[in-house]
Amino acid sequence: MVNGVDKIIESLSSKEEAVLKEIAASGNQEIEEISKKTGLQYSDVSRSILWLENKGLVKTLKNPIYSYHLTEIGEKYLKKGIVEKRIFDYLDKNNAATTTELMEELGIDENELRGGIGALKNNGIVEFGTINGKSVLILKNRDESKIKEYQNALADLSNAATSVLSDLAKRGIIEKKSKNIIIASATKQGMVVYEELKHYGKREIVDKLTPQMLIGNLWMNKKFKRYEIKSPVPSIVGGRKHPLYLIIDQVKEILISMGFRELEGNWIETAFWNMDSMFIPQNHPARDIQDTFYIGKEKGSLPEDLKNKVKLVQEGGWDTGSTGYMDRWDEEEAKKLVLRSHTTALTFRTFAEGISIPDKAFTIGRVFRNENPDSMHMPEFHQIEGFVVDRDLSIRDLIGYFTVFYKQLGITGLKFKPTYNPYTEPSMEIYTHHFGKLIEIGNSGIFRPESLRPYGIKANVIAWGLAVERLASIIYEINDIRKLYGSNSSIDFARNYMYKVYK
Ligand code: PHE
Repeated sequence: MVNGVDKIIESLSSKEEAVLKEIAASGNQEIEEISKKTGLQYSDVSRSILWLENKGLVKTLKNPIYSYHLTEIGEKYLKKGIVEKRIFDYLDKNNAATTTELMEELGIDENELRGGIGALKNNGIVEFGTINGKSVLILKNRDESKIKEYQNALADLSNAATSVLSDLAKRGIIEKKSKNIIIASATKQGMVVYEELKHYGKREIVDKLTPQMLIGNLWMNKKFKRYEIKSPVPSIVGGRKHPLYLIIDQVKEILISMGFRELEGNWIETAFWNMDSMFIPQNHPARDIQDTFYIGKEKGSLPEDLKNKVKLVQEGGWDTGSTGYMDRWDEEEAKKLVLRSHTTALTFRTFAEGISIPDKAFTIGRVFRNENPDSMHMPEFHQIEGFVVDRDLSIRDLIGYFTVFYKQLGITGLKFKPTYNPYTEPSMEIYTHHFGKLIEIGNSGIFRPESLRPYGIKANVIAWGLAVERLASIIYEINDIRKLYGSNSSIDFARNYMYKVYK
């Protein structure tokens, strides 16, 4: 049986052992001293002390120590003589001098002069008098001993009197610097271990297992260093999938498992694909529903054949039985370039390529709207677009898809509300609870005959656009979608988010 003290001893590296022995044997110790006595490097000693402290064998104390250093002026005084000495010498020769004369002759500034005269006056060596109506400094006493003491202090700060040092510091001739030194001493437990170590003799401890040891079975006779595998370690931040992308991946998996194929599209579209293609009229209020970003003055091109069909439906309803918008449809308006405001643009591109009955497809992508950012809005966000083509589809099918889809993400208790879209009828918004409030998480509907007519689609198409960021805020239980990414997001969240897998 290995007892507690033996366990600790087995955990000591030879450096730690040497340092502990030194500290325990000679009481309080500075790192520098220990380093000298053990022959270990300073950094090895300080690292060993840290480990020993972790193991409760050593405690440390930070002692500030102060030292004085000459300032630039101090260096000058050391070389040329301290200013009061120079003034003294000058007066000794010339008996009296004006302050201007002193500054000029000695090459000193007013501050230095003031310091020097102050020192001389304090020691009763000079006084001011008047000669020929001029104020002059006169030597009163020739006792230089005080001045010498100060001059000597400059040459040997460590032996100077404290009063002299504080005087010199006040005059800016020297400055005080402080430095923390670490003093280590053994704890009670450290002393116990130290005593026990005496019975051990020389320990051969191995802290690395080499291939050679394994091959020759040499490890069997070795004594290995014991490691404390339960002690807390700093957490390591590794690479991690972005919280939003984790959800996007999860959603893809769910939709693919529900039989949907995935589509991919572009961020930049013509107004034609973003709006005209799906029977959104060209009048302003309708185009403003989704605060669309237009791109400069550049124009895109339109699909020739389809363009004419869209024109027919928009202007007069073609053969759908609808009157259309009874207004001229402007090709130039449709050529404008936009940042897509919804992924539905891609749905209609897909219709133009031709779809089969039945068909199910989805895309997850970024969309752009000129909206002020707040806890629920961002000018860039992601949508999950999806559509199902079949015969006899109804709103009940939509509700069914949403129920099944969201349940797999842990979201139940959906609410539905009628709404208006130019391209669907009926149209329906999807809501759920988030922090006690109902929030919209999607919009959907059944495409109108006018929307589908240019593509010759006679079956029913139910479709939707679902919010990804809001979905993420529900799953991660955060109250502001701006925490997910962008300048308000927190790196801590991206590192530490918890993802609950439902199903
Ligand atoms: N495009 C709609 C939106 O962005 C969502 C939608 C897609 C609605 C398809 C109906 C059909 O809000």
